[in-house]
Amino acid sequence: MKTIGILTSGGDAPGMNSAIRGAVRTALNKSMRIKGVRNGYDGLMKGDIYEMNISSVADIIHKGGTILGTARSLEFQTPEGQKRGAQILADYGIEGLIVIGGDGSFKGAKALSDLGIKTIGIPGTIDNDMGYTDYTIGFFTAIETVSDAIGKLRDTSSSHGRAVVIEVMGRNCGDLALYSGLAGGAESIIVPEHKFSINEIIAKMEHGRKRGKLHHLITLAEGVGDPYALANELEEKTGIETKVTVLGHVQRGGSPSAVDRLLGSAMGSRAVDLLAEEKTGLAIGYVNGKIIEVSIEEATSVKSVFDENLYDLANSLSR
Ligand code: F6P
Repeated sequence: MKTIGILTSGGDAPGMNSAIRGAVRTALNKSMRIKGVRNGYDGLMKGDIYEMNISSVADIIHKGGTILGTARSLEFQTPEGQKRGAQILADYGIEGLIVIGGDGSFKGAKALSDLGIKTIGIPGTIDNDMGYTDYTIGFFTAIETVSDAIGKLRDTSSSHGRAVVIEVMGRNCGDLALYSGLAGGAESIIVPEHKFSINEIIAKMEHGRKRGKLHHLITLAEGVGDPYALANELEEKTGIETKVTVLGHVQRGGSPSAVDRLLGSAMGSRAVDLLAEEKTGLAIGYVNGKIIEVSIEEATSVKSVFDENLYDLANSLSR
C-alpha cells in the first residue's frame, strides 16, 4: 500500500492529535504517503484532502482537539453518499483510510471497507462507551477535567453549606461519571446503568450533615435525566440548598493526559502497520494492557460492560 488517508470524526477527544502524529510518522517511516481529510466524512464528501508531511504533525502531541477538524455528515450516512466517499478516496489515490472516532464513525469505516477501501478504526471518544476496548482515547483526560471541577465545586459547596448536582457527559454510558466521581470523592454517583433511589441520596445528605459535612457532591451522568429536577427535589426534601453545574463541552478540551498520548501514539502507529499488511475492517483497542484489534463489526456490536466493582467501591467509600 502506497498512499493512505486519515480522518477524525464525531465528537473530538483529547489524544486524537497523538494518534494522528503516530499514524503520520509511522507511515512516513515506511515510505508511505499519507493524506489528511479535514472535518471528518463531511470534508471527505467535499474532497477537502491534503498531503501530510513530517512537519504537519510537529508540535501537536500535547494539544487538545484534532488538527484535522471533525464534523457530522448526513450525506455520508446514506449508501449513495458512502459510494461517493469511496470514489473520492480512490480519485485521490487513497487505498487505505484510518478513522479516529466513536461508534458512528466506525460504522462509516465499515461501509468504506465493504466498498473496497481498506479501513482501520481507532477509538476516540471521552465517553468510553465502546465495549470491545478497556479504554478509548480521551477518556482519561476527561476524568482529570471532571475530577478537577469536582474539587473546585467541593471548595465552594463547603463554604456555603450546599449540595451540587454535577452533570457529566457520556451519552448513555456512566463511566465518566463513575471514574471522575470516585477520583473526585463525590458522595453520590448516578449512572444510567443503575436505578437510583432518591431516598438513599437524601439519607446520605442528611447523615453527612449530621456529622458536620458541609457539602454533598453528586455526579450525574447526562444519560440519566434532568439535573435541575433532581436538584429541586433534593432541596425540597432536605432543606439543603442544591445547585446544578452542567460541565458541558469543557470536558472535551484540554491538553491530553500522558495516558491518552500513549494510547494515541500506539494506536495510530498500529493502524498504519495493519494497513501496510493490507488488512481492512479492523478496530484497534486496548485490552488487559495490550493493543489489540478486532473486526469493526465486533467493535460496534460488543456492549460496554459497566464496572460494578468500581461502582460498589465508590459507594462504600463515600460516606
Ligand atoms: O460523544 C462525545 C460527546 O461529548 C457526548 O458525551 C455528548 O453527549 C455529545 O458528544 C455531545 O455532542 P455535541 O458536541 O454534538 O453537542
